Amino acid sequence: MTRLGGKSAMITGAARGIGRGFAEAYIAEGATVAIADVNLEAAEATARELGNAAYAVQIDVSDQASIDAAIATVVSQAGKLDILINNAALFDAAETVDITRESFDKLYAVNVAGTLFTMQAAARQMIAQGHGGKIINMASQAGRRGEPLVLVYCSTKAAVISMTQSAGLNLIKHGINVNAIAPGVVDGAHWEHVDAMFAKLEGKPLGQKKAEVEAGVPAGRFAVPADLAGMAVFLASPESDYIVSQTYNVDGGQWMS
Ligand SMILES: NC(=O)c1ccc[n+]([C@@H]2O[C@H](COP(=O)([O-])OP(=O)(O)OC[C@H]3O[C@@H](n4cnc5c(N)ncnc54)[C@H](O)[C@@H]3O)[C@@H](O)[C@H]2O)c1
Repeated sequence: MTRLGGKSAMITGAARGIGRGFAEAYIAEGATVAIADVNLEAAEATARELGNAAYAVQIDVSDQASIDAAIATVVSQAGKLDILINNAALFDAAETVDITRESFDKLYAVNVAGTLFTMQAAARQMIAQGHGGKIINMASQAGRRGEPLVLVYCSTKAAVISMTQSAGLNLIKHGINVNAIAPGVVDGAHWEHVDAMFAKLEGKPLGQKKAEVEAGVPAGRFAVPADLAGMAVFLASPESDYIVSQTYNVDGGQWMS
């Protein structure tokens, strides 16, 4: 028996990386999944690779009209929306004295406003449907504590943890569970980008930051997207019906809270 049979899910930023891994896991558990991404071409390629239970939807989570259109597309394609994973996010790093307003505005538009208003649009749809739903926000260990070169991104992820708490408390009366996952370090294109940024900022050869970070993970390695999939399936399934407003660390032992 599958755990998400008959469910309709939308995963933002699912064209690659962790979001794609979640889509694979949800499809294996019987769900139909909207691969929702700002990069439509990449989302279409991913949807083709994942088979008939996946379809591509364009969404720019920093744009309200785009969020509304994406939810409407999911409802017209799948008939309903049961599960949302707010996974799309941007990263940046800089010395505190070098942070620009442009970087701040961009990260807050996607990671904070994008998470909030996609969550809001999904919740409105779920309330209208009248049988609850599941919303999972992607936080990070970066939201648990600051990092010297990562002020803006860390603060957006702290905001995701806080928004998960408030929205969860508010929406549970509609049978909507809002929870979050806080990964540690997950291998993929995102980390290649992070490593290249740190190489510049800290004057390190490419790959060195990644190796240093990996050496500090208690589990001894970076995660792969599949390491997070069990938590994402659990938080979308009826087994989590009594779990409200929580953020779960899935980070190989990096953080305890
Ligand atoms: N990779 C890690 O080590 C790590 C650690 C902790 C938390 N996270 C979080 O997990 C999530 C996924 O991370 P990832 O490593 O797979 O990221 P990624 O950069 O590999 O993928 C992000 C996806 O989001 C899409 N996207 C970007 N802006 C968008 C927008 N405005 N609207 C819609 N889609 C947009 C991109 O096109 C891309 O497909 C993010 O929320 C990230 O902050 C990642």
